[in-house]
Amino acid sequence: MVNMKIGIEYLNFYVPEYYISLDLIAEKLGTDSGKYSHGIGQEKMSMPPHSEDVVTLGANAAWPIIEKHGPDNIDSVIFCTETGIDQSKSAGIYIHRLLGLNSNCRNVEMKQACYSATAALQLACGYVARKPDRKVLVIASDISRYDLGSNAEPTQGCGAVAMLISADAKILEIDPVSGCHTEDVMDFWRPNYRKTALVDGKFSALKYLQSIGHSWQDYRANGGRAFEEFAQFCYHLPFTKMGEKAHRHLNKLNGATVDPTTIEPGFHFNRLVGNSYCASLYISLISMLENCPEDLANKSIGLFSYGSGCVGEFFSGIVQPGYQDHLDIEKHKIMLEDRQSLTYDTYLDFWHAPDPKDGETVKIDPMGKSKFRLTSIDEHKRHYESD
Ligand code: HMG
Repeated sequence: MVNMKIGIEYLNFYVPEYYISLDLIAEKLGTDSGKYSHGIGQEKMSMPPHSEDVVTLGANAAWPIIEKHGPDNIDSVIFCTETGIDQSKSAGIYIHRLLGLNSNCRNVEMKQACYSATAALQLACGYVARKPDRKVLVIASDISRYDLGSNAEPTQGCGAVAMLISADAKILEIDPVSGCHTEDVMDFWRPNYRKTALVDGKFSALKYLQSIGHSWQDYRANGGRAFEEFAQFCYHLPFTKMGEKAHRHLNKLNGATVDPTTIEPGFHFNRLVGNSYCASLYISLISMLENCPEDLANKSIGLFSYGSGCVGEFFSGIVQPGYQDHLDIEKHKIMLEDRQSLTYDTYLDFWHAPDPKDGETVKIDPMGKSKFRLTSIDEHKRHYESD
């Protein structure tokens, strides 16, 4: 193939129709709401009803790509999550059926906290370089859950991103150079027997910042672009204040002065969604592409992915001319504006998603306009349907 541009051909994100306002959480926890709006830089947290889980979130994110592109040439699905619904079967296989993908398409699930979608993106780019006529569907889908009443409760959220990786990148060509850092630390983890994550909050923020320093150094040592070349930066955003701190740190390392206009477009959606773990960086990328007033065609973008435990990666890409024609700006605006605010009691009900352990049957009434729904869990099997 001549003129290969390996990277993101299409991408889309999805959040459910419900959120809880952080002002309400502040009221319930007896905290000043300024701590959340200014201290951590968040307004709302997306919450899935019982009829939505990582499968339906991911299928909803991917469906517009399949409508636009069709299933042809998609020969791999990489499903990324740390909210796994099964220890063995990949959640992507349910999505494979719901989307009507070809049966000769492979499926696998990946996990490394909030980092896995970046590994999937890089591996998909490498695969496409070897087989330029093939495409890989990367789906990042997560539901962030911490204990009720804990300091981390206001940093929950959920969402999914789907990206079609091909040799015909219409949105972002991914540079082959990147910089990584892996270190065995216990900043955030979730043992198999727990539904909520355990976290050492302050330590996790410290490891995030150290990791961006190491990843940046490795990126530069591998021949990466100079700091001044980037028009915009996107960060993994557990909360937007973390992105602000990361950017300040990166500027300091490069002897530069922070220009807020190079990060704010990427914060807009995440402020309204909360932490969507491995989807978070890519929701920020969509936010940046759809909210940056500047025409970004041919401009370089720097991205930092962080997954606790921990793995960091700094990588970059070039926005493609005509990228605006492939975004769904209006649809995303409406999706975020048309959501319903939950009462505190309904938030608690949503938070306790059904989790039958003995094979009992749980029927789930569909809520909201989601095209894909979890309708029951029966004899240890999850059942999904679509419109
Ligand atoms: P906390 O300890 O309750 O908050 O929880 P705090 O006391 O540190 O306050 C937060 C900020 O609000 C501070 O600002 C305060 O000064 C400010 P900072 O000093 O940081 O600049 N503040 C106020 N500002 C305005 N008005 C007020 C006010 N009061 C205080 N009235 C914490 C915060 C993030 C630790 C907690 O929510 C938490 O543990 N969250 C989960 C962990 C997390 O998100 N870590 C981020 C890095 S690790 C990561 O990103 C990976 C992750 O996504 C998981 C994965 O990889 O899978 C989490």
